[in-house]
Amino acid sequence: MCGIIGILGSHEVSPLLVDALKRLEYRGYDSAGVATVDASGRLDRRRAVGKLINLSDRLVHQPLPGQAGIGHTRWATHGAATEVNAHPHQSGRVAIVHNGIIENFRELRARLADLGIQPQSQTDTETVALWTAHHMDQGMGPVEAARATLSQLHGAFALAFLFEGEGDLMIAARRGSPLAIGHGKNEMFLGSDAVALAPFTDRITYLEDGDHAVLTRAGVQVWDAAGQPVDRPVARIDVGATIIDRGGHRHFMAKEIAEQPVVIGDVLNHYVKGDRIVLPEGLDFVALDRVTLVGCGTAHLAGHVAKYWFEQLAGLPCDIDVASEFRYREPPLSDRSLFVAVSQSGETADTLAALHYARGRVARTVGLVNVGTSAIARDSDTALPTLAGIEVSVASSKAFTCQLAVLGVLALKAAHDRGRIDGAGLAAHLRDLRAVPALLAQALALTDDCRTQAAWLAQARDVLYLGRGALYPVALEGALKLKELSYIHAEGYASGELKHGPIALIDGDVPVVVLAPHDALFDKTISNMQEVMARNGRILLISDAAGIAAAGDGVTATLALPTGGGVFQPILYAVPMQYLAYHTAVAKGTDVDQPRNLAKSVTVE
Ligand code: G6P
Repeated sequence: MCGIIGILGSHEVSPLLVDALKRLEYRGYDSAGVATVDASGRLDRRRAVGKLINLSDRLVHQPLPGQAGIGHTRWATHGAATEVNAHPHQSGRVAIVHNGIIENFRELRARLADLGIQPQSQTDTETVALWTAHHMDQGMGPVEAARATLSQLHGAFALAFLFEGEGDLMIAARRGSPLAIGHGKNEMFLGSDAVALAPFTDRITYLEDGDHAVLTRAGVQVWDAAGQPVDRPVARIDVGATIIDRGGHRHFMAKEIAEQPVVIGDVLNHYVKGDRIVLPEGLDFVALDRVTLVGCGTAHLAGHVAKYWFEQLAGLPCDIDVASEFRYREPPLSDRSLFVAVSQSGETADTLAALHYARGRVARTVGLVNVGTSAIARDSDTALPTLAGIEVSVASSKAFTCQLAVLGVLALKAAHDRGRIDGAGLAAHLRDLRAVPALLAQALALTDDCRTQAAWLAQARDVLYLGRGALYPVALEGALKLKELSYIHAEGYASGELKHGPIALIDGDVPVVVLAPHDALFDKTISNMQEVMARNGRILLISDAAGIAAAGDGVTATLALPTGGGVFQPILYAVPMQYLAYHTAVAKGTDVDQPRNLAKSVTVE
């Protein structure tokens, strides 16, 4: 999703802006641009479609001098990914960059048309520049003009304004979308997140919803949503935690998959001490009657796995929904229920809105987030960090398994609080959970076998994934991963549902990936597998040694996972889902870390 950077510096800023945008690349984008004010006060910009290298090339041939500037990576919402739609948008004496959606842009544009002002682009964003320039033409100063424009806007946004003739001024505003201010020595910075600002400073102020800020090199003044001046705290960030490198791997995703044994170990060290679960105060499940889990994409599927754990281990009814449906459905919520928002970024607009809907309607809200400073972390009663470390690849891998590990701990706490398991039962489940990092380390050895199978999958037009029980959402995740990374059409189904429709798709050209650990549901899933094979379907069976031995002949290929992990086996089965998608994408030559059309952090609806 769009990335914003702003610098009031003491050196030429164009190269610094591009470097900072590189650190925001992971959010996903399809064009980029920068604008600067030079020593004579001249405001100018350069923009380019595609990767940042295109913008860098443009800047080599058409340099952009100046020590004050703003930059942007755009993930298109309104208007195609063209240069004319790329940010910064400039009108008269102002240039702006924007993340979010100006929902009333049609009305704003119509009123501009009445004034004889025509936009150049198809974007919602340009109306912000046009209105600010118009207010300045009417005699307002930059700050007054920006404020007048902000009061006209509906929707979610983070905005940065830069002005002709004002080499020591930048205005920032935040409603919905995240924005952080970095404090330097006689320098000030703006960024979509601390990751972008880490090379410049470790002193960060997070703007609150509705804030706007006026930055000069001497410092920043912030006003809240009511227009009152406010002091926002300066936090020190751990710059080490924002280091972005591939660690010798070809792709960030390969590195992040390989990190899973270590980060899951970190999760368990954090939340489990001996045979005790350690969670923040107030997470008591005794009086609760329901858990509601909400998330988007992979985070939603982590919640879907956890539904099985909450219901089976704790006997606690559990709802799971995608955040974009939940928020508008007006679901009745019990004031004795727990609401859990699951989100890697903690900024996903729909998940945040769902959390806001739940607040005040439930007993407690929990934000299960990987970014501890995010809006979901701040707006939840309890924030539970998933401790995966920074995840750069757009397709989530280690964040997913860390979400599962934390949700597993929560479900065990619920089971124990509610008397469904005693101390010995809890200790046994914790033993299973603590075995997971070592089992994951063994599962990583499947990478070579997955590469072999990927050669087959890469030829397919469609792929089906089947799973039963808590492995059903893992099958959904496998299909989602394959779609995201390799652009091959893939669907996940509950194994028992196959015969109610999807079986019509089966022929020798559709690989069917079956997830079937040798557990109580094994025989049922194998029957479904036989139904596929009876119709010439070709099976890639993922099981353990006992399952593969018991499945008999006829499967095209197998992948053997280690045995163990108890009810937490879905965490292990995530690994072949990730590697199959990864190697298929590598075989097809797609952009593994930044798949087309996708964004890491989706801050619009
Ligand atoms: C995007 C990403 C997915 C992610 C989803 C939810 O679609 O591409 O990988 O699962 O957003 O993101 P969140 O940050 O809320 O987990």
